Amino acid sequence: MKTPTLVALTTLVALLSPAVSYPGMATALSALHHHASPADEDPKELIGDLLTLTDSQLTSIGKDIEAILLGTLTAESSTIDNSVPAALGSSACSSDTCCVWKWIAYDMTAKFNDTSGRCTLFARAAVRLGFHDAGAWSKTSSYGGADGSILLTDELMKTLYNKYHQYGVGMTDLIQMGATIASVVCPLGPRIRSFVGWVDNAKAAPAGLLPGVNDSADKLIALFKAKTIDPHGLAALVGAHTTSQQHFVDTGRDGDPQDSTPGMWDVKFYGETLNSVPPRVFKFASDEKLSVDSRTADEWKEFVGDQEHWNEDYAQEYVRLSLLGVNNINILKECTKVLPPRVNSFVAQDQTVLDLWLQGQFDQLNSLIDDSVLLTRFTSRTTIGKDQTKPLED
Ligand SMILES: *[C@@H]1O[C@H](CO)[C@@H](O)[C@H](O)[C@H]1NC(C)=O
Ligand SMILES: *[C@@H]1O[C@H](CO)[C@@H](O)[C@H](O)[C@H]1NC(C)=O
Repeated sequence: MKTPTLVALTTLVALLSPAVSYPGMATALSALHHHASPADEDPKELIGDLLTLTDSQLTSIGKDIEAILLGTLTAESSTIDNSVPAALGSSACSSDTCCVWKWIAYDMTAKFNDTSGRCTLFARAAVRLGFHDAGAWSKTSSYGGADGSILLTDELMKTLYNKYHQYGVGMTDLIQMGATIASVVCPLGPRIRSFVGWVDNAKAAPAGLLPGVNDSADKLIALFKAKTIDPHGLAALVGAHTTSQQHFVDTGRDGDPQDSTPGMWDVKFYGETLNSVPPRVFKFASDEKLSVDSRTADEWKEFVGDQEHWNEDYAQEYVRLSLLGVNNINILKECTKVLPPRVNSFVAQDQTVLDLWLQGQFDQLNSLIDDSVLLTRFTSRTTIGKDQTKPLED
């Protein structure tokens, strides 16, 4: 435990306050403080090569990742490079690790975002892929984890891999960068520190290590503990359902979202899982169980209405998840700067139509909402007036 560091940080904040104007900094630090304080939490575990490397062997990336894993450093970053990258394939681009990633970030952002400003089904698929590739691991696995072994069944990822592999881009890097780019493209989502340099392994991951939508809290908590993710971390990670729309859990309700704001990375998911919801919202049984279990309920309630706290915790736990089974953490490179900026506030222009859809009307809008296109050219409630039952006829 790095209490001295935390004390130093707290003092620093006290000294700087109220001069601190960097948005998010105060909340990030208070979240860190929150993270380290509760006595009921297990100490955070190190993973991979960080378990055996001594402090003097750590690179600056290795040190930062270690601090993120231990909960003493924020995993969110606003570092951004707004310059135009060198041409793809040029020697200037080849000699800069993050150059090709800037091009990939452009391609991904274009696919992850559409006219409504919500994030698309491609963004949701990218987040899911990041979870599914990295999550198939436990402390007793000798392989698996974030290794690209999940087959790229996703058309977008396959296309990107075929386009960029010739520039040295690996499958795991593409998957994990896809997950962090997707979460920041979704309005309000965190800008998670993003690394490259994962080692691909085509061997199929060990079976039975991914959570099920109907699993009990006991099963989920044990499953994630075996991945070094504590109950609070699990509570933070399942919040990714804030943006999702289910297709296969109940095929009769194809397209139904897990909170009332699909395509937005907000905290509505947490409050709504605990309360009554519009008829279109489909809650997963596992989420409902975690929301009331004594080991996760306290953190769950803290996320209700507290976007910054959740983003901070999600970012931290996602970095951990993305590094499961990875044994070259110390030599990864960082390309966070290629991520698009965070969308800090968002108002849906088509909320009136969305509200009707959430009440169970207009099944024909399911795929448009999945694609995140703006549902109507009307830009305010008042202009819709009597025509609001005909949202597509403008
Ligand atoms: C997504 O699209 C919306 C609407 O077209 C736009 O306002 C927003 O800036 C875009 N977000 C990103 C990250 O490009
Ligand atoms: C989960 O539960 C729902 C509702 O009871 C059921 O329709 C679905 O088949 C279950 N899914 C799995 C994977 O067990």
